[in-house]
Amino acid sequence: MHLVTSDQLTEKDITYLFNNIGSIKQYNKFGDNVKYGNKVLINVFYEYSTRTSLSFECAMNKLGGKVITFNKEFSSIHKGETFEDTIRTIMCYGDIMVIRHPEKGMVNKIAEISTIPIINGGDGNNEHPSQSLLDLYSIYKKYDSDFVNKTILFVGDILNSRTIHSLIKLINLYPSMKIFFLPFDNLHPSEEMIKNIKNIHNQSGNIILNMSNINYNEIDIVYCTRLQKERNTNDNILLNENIIINNEFANKLKEDAIIMHPLPRNKELDIDLDNNHRAYYFEQIKLGVDIRMSIIDYCINN
Ligand code: NCD
Repeated sequence: MHLVTSDQLTEKDITYLFNNIGSIKQYNKFGDNVKYGNKVLINVFYEYSTRTSLSFECAMNKLGGKVITFNKEFSSIHKGETFEDTIRTIMCYGDIMVIRHPEKGMVNKIAEISTIPIINGGDGNNEHPSQSLLDLYSIYKKYDSDFVNKTILFVGDILNSRTIHSLIKLINLYPSMKIFFLPFDNLHPSEEMIKNIKNIHNQSGNIILNMSNINYNEIDIVYCTRLQKERNTNDNILLNENIIINNEFANKLKEDAIIMHPLPRNKELDIDLDNNHRAYYFEQIKLGVDIRMSIIDYCINN
């Protein structure tokens, strides 16, 4: 099975993927990970990555499998080879491929011709489904089954953040959750997205907030994102990180609220916050390995 978009996932799939982590850890404990001994994961990144590529590599290693990495800079792309030919070649070397590409829809195109499972590691400003599973799993690990009653505030570049786009699709499977936005100037969610959220989550009031009308007691999760400079090509629009999440902001939240970020961060997430007990982004990174083990297992076996 491919994992190209969060649209593919049902509540049942998510429950399975979360529970499957326990089973994987159990058979790893008994050294019974031979299942993946002859399987190869191929990491193909046409855009920079630290966490997604390394956590998939770490996850496959923990499953007992092997990893090979495509290096764009030293590939035959520089001899004029097409993207399609490159991908068709890479497919012959492994059993599952994680691919990141700067162009929206490109990973889907590859999945259509692929003979091995494809995992979307991020396509332009479109989607990043494995990150959204990681994010929802992190929320679940914090609040257990009560996560379905929590309220999330998305902060930053809502328009271009693929991690937000994919996470909202998963949150929409749980209508009792509530969603609010605190966007950077000119980087608001689309009207269609706002309408859809209001319908699904039965939220009649304004869901786009600014620094002066946040109800801090209502927010359980702050999900912060950086300004995606590389995706904003319109020079006529003034863009900046006009919102900063710092200790002053965090300390107004509930005691058990969490602050998440897919990272990398720029100015929008103050480093002073790292010692605040609500900072959850480093925990989030660790949980990424567990969920990616489960995703690899699921995609190979379905
Ligand atoms: C994000 C990505 O690449 O979309 N990071 C990640 O995968 N952990 C977020 C970003 O680039 O801002």
